[in-house]
Amino acid sequence: MSKVAKLELDSKVYEFPIVVGSEDEHSLDISTLRSKTGYITLDEGYGNTGSCLSNITFIDGEKGILRYRGIPIEELAEKSTFVETAYLIIYGKLPNSQEIKDFSSLLTKNEMLHEDMKFHFEGFPTHAHPMAILSSMINAAGCFLPEVLNPDEVFLTQAARLLSQVRTIAAFSYRKSLGLPIIYPKPIYKYTANFLHMMFSEPYEDYELQPEVVNALDLIFLLHADHEQNCSTSTVRMVASSQANLFASAAAGVCALWGPLHGGANQAVLEMLEDIHKSGDNGSRFIEAAKDKTSGKRLMGFGHRIYKNYDPRARIIKKKCDELLAVLKRKDPLLDIAKRLEEGALSDPYFIDRKLYPNVDFYSGIIMRAIGIPLSMYTVMFAIGRMPGWIANFKEIHDAKDSRIYRPRQVYTGRTLTHYTPFRERV
Ligand code: SDX
Repeated sequence: MSKVAKLELDSKVYEFPIVVGSEDEHSLDISTLRSKTGYITLDEGYGNTGSCLSNITFIDGEKGILRYRGIPIEELAEKSTFVETAYLIIYGKLPNSQEIKDFSSLLTKNEMLHEDMKFHFEGFPTHAHPMAILSSMINAAGCFLPEVLNPDEVFLTQAARLLSQVRTIAAFSYRKSLGLPIIYPKPIYKYTANFLHMMFSEPYEDYELQPEVVNALDLIFLLHADHEQNCSTSTVRMVASSQANLFASAAAGVCALWGPLHGGANQAVLEMLEDIHKSGDNGSRFIEAAKDKTSGKRLMGFGHRIYKNYDPRARIIKKKCDELLAVLKRKDPLLDIAKRLEEGALSDPYFIDRKLYPNVDFYSGIIMRAIGIPLSMYTVMFAIGRMPGWIANFKEIHDAKDSRIYRPRQVYTGRTLTHYTPFRERV
């Protein structure tokens, strides 16, 4: 097959290289389009535009496939942990016993915040959204790095600090919002257990770490760990491409993730389910509203730019919901509503025709609600989980010798040449 694509423009034929990825994804390399033809492309929302070559995560949206460094998400969900998967995503291989030991101790060594960061927490109003605090405090944490780091240490130290401290910042912001004393991390606890300890222990009594609860949250983090060039990861790469540091790039990723169309959807799903529950609707009225463009409502947690099939993460989380609620001997009416909504939507031509399926956010909130994590912290959980993916994408840009600053073009549709008018001539 020819390795070039031909484009006829203004009765001239141009050739552009075809780039084929390791999973047979085909793309046109248009990096010479403007210099050759004077044209640029236009692709609102970048639905057809590849921004980079990447070795980290592969998604086949039509088949509902997700792999981190080639390993299927289903296998990692069943056999791995969040920290081991974080290592895989960041460093490109599963760690051996020494590597995971060193990585874990690096996370433990970096779990405490600089004591002066407490003053930053004091400055936030109690009602401040934890995503605003998280973004600010990630940048603040970058200010407390040791001044002198040798070049080999910089990334390792930054990555370990960021991955470890993102949960400390999250837990401290939760405690602060309730006026509770902050609970310091305990080196004896592993990553997710330590987070739950910092969230829910009291100075006089440690939180009881139920293995099923720890494993359920660890799975949530693992399933969120990366997802190729989604909105927030592309934001991290955009900022990293200017050679800003890892903390600045991750802080920008937090801001992009916050939106209800992206990571904020997990909070929006629970708010939707609670509204439906309160209204006494069995879900069918809401589905009709979600189909009506004038209603301003969407079936949150449904649909995806890439997945035109069931999001494999949603399938895994849905199963974990049932398991965790059974262990906790709890029934959650919102889970029943979610299942009814899924059943109704998946048999409705509106959703079928548009290939709208449950995504990662549809069931994740049910697990977090069962664990006792407050609604306002749901997207923060997403950010903690996504941190390895952001770090890995930052590293991919940072390591690429030919990396260029991201600077898309536009098609200008504004006013053509005009001139400054003095006040007396203005209408
Ligand atoms: C995440 O990119 C990633 O990988 C993201 C993520 C990750 O891990 O990083 O997977 C995490 O962000 C998951 C998505 C969370 N967001 C939501 O659940 C919010 C609800 N879903 C949507 O708003 C929407 O589906 C998006 C934002 C997820 C995708 O938007 P697109 O690709 O721009 O699709 P679109 O808005 O153009 O929708 C296509 C059609 C439209 O109808 P028509 O104009 O063709 O008639 O589908 C409709 C939309 O109105 N539609 C929905 C819908 N989602 C799309 N209608 C009702 N309810 C919905 N949820």
